[in-house]
Amino acid sequence: MRKFKFADRILNCASVKLFVYHTPESTPTDLLPDCAVVIDVLRATTTIATALDAGAEAVQAFSNIEELMRQADSWSAEKCLRAGERGGAKVKGFDLGNSPLACKPEVVKGKRLFLTTTNGTRALQRVEKSPQVITAAQINRRAAVNYLLETQPKTVWMVGSGWQGDYSVEDTACAGAIAKSILQQSDVSLIDLFGNDEVIGAIALYERWKDNLLNVFRLCSHGQRLLKLDGDEDLKYCSQTDILNVLPIQKEPGVLIKH
Ligand code: MLT
Repeated sequence: MRKFKFADRILNCASVKLFVYHTPESTPTDLLPDCAVVIDVLRATTTIATALDAGAEAVQAFSNIEELMRQADSWSAEKCLRAGERGGAKVKGFDLGNSPLACKPEVVKGKRLFLTTTNGTRALQRVEKSPQVITAAQINRRAAVNYLLETQPKTVWMVGSGWQGDYSVEDTACAGAIAKSILQQSDVSLIDLFGNDEVIGAIALYERWKDNLLNVFRLCSHGQRLLKLDGDEDLKYCSQTDILNVLPIQKEPGVLIKH
């Protein structure tokens, strides 16, 4: 039965292989995928999607604060916002932290966010030379799935940002949500689609928590860290599924715009 109706095309199962990497450090160092999907549900890729949806001109990601300052200083002051966190807390002197809830249209519209975060921006940097780079979070999962179904890249890496080299449950659950949705919307079977065992694990993880994402976000280590910083509203926002139809896509290394 034909299930995938997007753009009136069927996903050619044999041609797409999905890989999940829990952290940027666990990706192979000697190759790149046709399409990289960077995931940092708490909170960088949720913030990027929200900022672009609210009208930001672009989000430019930096792993290094000094480099961010250097580039932002050369930008017109009215068109630029410095945003970011270390350890979850706003960087001193910056306009914004890394809360998606701060990305209101009246704050970000027409502006470029110069963003640095502890892990998400490092994950982006790891795969920035891939031919296609998109970012995904739980809030824009469907937009990422539709893009993959439409473009059908041969190899797709879903790269979780983790925390300083360690696994983060929320990123892998989101990768599982994307893989599950592709399976549901296409004729592809899991055996044809999965490129590594992490995909099977990610789907199982998502299945376990899909009706309860907020609970697992409150339980996990970075959720706990954000709760100590008064971040429960962020957790609630980040745990919603498919609320924004926006897809951040890399237009040049480190610079994401609305697709
Ligand atoms: C990160 O990149 O590590 C996160 O986005 C941290 C955060 O919650 O702000």
